[in-house]
Amino acid sequence: MKFTLLKRLTAGYGAILLMVILLGVFVAYNLNQLNGLIRGTAADGITINQMEQLREAMFSLTSFEKKFFISRDADFREKFMEIRNYLNSELGTIAQRMDTESKQKQYAEVRRLYDQYLGLFNAEDQRVAAGGSYPSSDYESRNEVIVDGINYRLKGIVDSFRLDREKKLQASGAVSVRVLDMTLITGVAIIAFGILISFVNARSINRSIVMLQKKTREIARGRYVGIPALGGPPEIQALADDFNRMSDKLKQLDELKIDFINRVSHDLRTPLTAIKEASDMLMEGVYADSPEKQHQLLAITKEECGRLINSVNRILDLSRMEVKMMEYRFQPCSLVPLIQRTVLKLAPLAQSKEIELELCPVPDLPAVKIDDERIGQVLENLIGNAIKFTPGNGRVRVQAAPMSKQRDAVGVAVIDTGPGIPEADLEFIFDKFSRVSSDGQTATGSGLGLAIAKHIVEDHGGRIWARNRTGNGSTFIFVLPAA
Ligand SMILES: Nc1ncnc2c1ncn2[C@@H]1O[C@H](COP(=O)(O)OP(=O)(O)OP(=O)(O)O)[C@@H](O)[C@H]1O
Ligand SMILES: [Mg+2]
Repeated sequence: MKFTLLKRLTAGYGAILLMVILLGVFVAYNLNQLNGLIRGTAADGITINQMEQLREAMFSLTSFEKKFFISRDADFREKFMEIRNYLNSELGTIAQRMDTESKQKQYAEVRRLYDQYLGLFNAEDQRVAAGGSYPSSDYESRNEVIVDGINYRLKGIVDSFRLDREKKLQASGAVSVRVLDMTLITGVAIIAFGILISFVNARSINRSIVMLQKKTREIARGRYVGIPALGGPPEIQALADDFNRMSDKLKQLDELKIDFINRVSHDLRTPLTAIKEASDMLMEGVYADSPEKQHQLLAITKEECGRLINSVNRILDLSRMEVKMMEYRFQPCSLVPLIQRTVLKLAPLAQSKEIELELCPVPDLPAVKIDDERIGQVLENLIGNAIKFTPGNGRVRVQAAPMSKQRDAVGVAVIDTGPGIPEADLEFIFDKFSRVSSDGQTATGSGLGLAIAKHIVEDHGGRIWARNRTGNGSTFIFVLPAA
């Protein structure tokens, strides 16, 4: 299967579109990832700040604890309680920010130590309130261990968050670089691929167009050349095939034209020569003493003039018919007398060739609306052709009949026992100037008769065609609509 131009373009640009879509999906996926990383980094920053504040609050809490125990001042106790409440609520909310197991473990440890710290504080507070001296023997050392533990773990959590934030920043950088690289590479690939597709397609079209241009110029110079197989897209090959057909047709027409001019000049020259010779003889007084011979010469001159006028008129008629300027005088009448007259007119010609010209019994025919002079011309050409192309001792029959039960048309057939028409030429035989060479047949005439007949019949709303008979000979049929 060959790739048409449309398929090539669709496939090429479809591939580009697919690449663009894939790139789009890739970029969207990575941007989404980048977005997640940036959000994570921002969230880590907030948590780090909160944790730092917690550490500061812890520091203030221990400092107010010491001041309170030393001074027993209620204000310090109140401050201590304030910070404790703050810490209680913050430790509660910040718990959900612990996003890894190790952070959650460290955080649980902070909570446990913090609760221990508060328990120790309460016990010491009650003891001192009951009159005990501050500090009790192991209070300070236990307190120090707990507070150090809390601070150490809080710092550990902050460091973990810092490390995570750093990792996320690095990952964001990597994603950005990846997106940029991919976009650049794919972009360059898409452009290169697009240029390649356009170039390949343009080249295959361009080569053919240049070739067509060259061949068209040659045809314009009168050299009817063909285009070899182009090997491009099928549309271009089809164009080249049409071009070759056109070139063949032009060549054929050119040959027909030359042939026609030769034949017309021959047709005109023969009567003109005869007229010239007869008038020379008359002027030279060759038959001055024989009025009978002079009359014969004048009769020849008149006959040749008639042939000359007839030839020229046929050419003019055909030209008028081709541009639809022929004028007809339509009248309703019967075809029978017209057929009879034409057969009678051509009987001597048939006789001279010893051809049996027969008019089959004509049934009752519906009337037709015709220009009888023109239809007479059609009959004359068909019967004349049959006599002309049928060898001596042959037979020509003319038949006429209504075409259907409805009697809405009349058909006339001229059947001969001549050489027939080569099958391949049957469809061209009604073209002007067409003359078919069959065996043993010397073509005479200008090849206009059937073309004129076809125009006349079709201008009457009818149809004309030819077919070969089994055995030998041909049949020409024309049908006219009933009036
Ligand atoms: N009955 C027939 N048998 C065989 N060939 C025929 C017959 N009638 C026509 N042809 C072929 O068709 C060609 C065209 O016929 P057409 O009547 O158009 O031209 P013509 O008879 O050669 O010239 P013109 O009619 O102009 O004097 C003829 O030259 C002949 O080759
Ligand atoms: Mg003819």
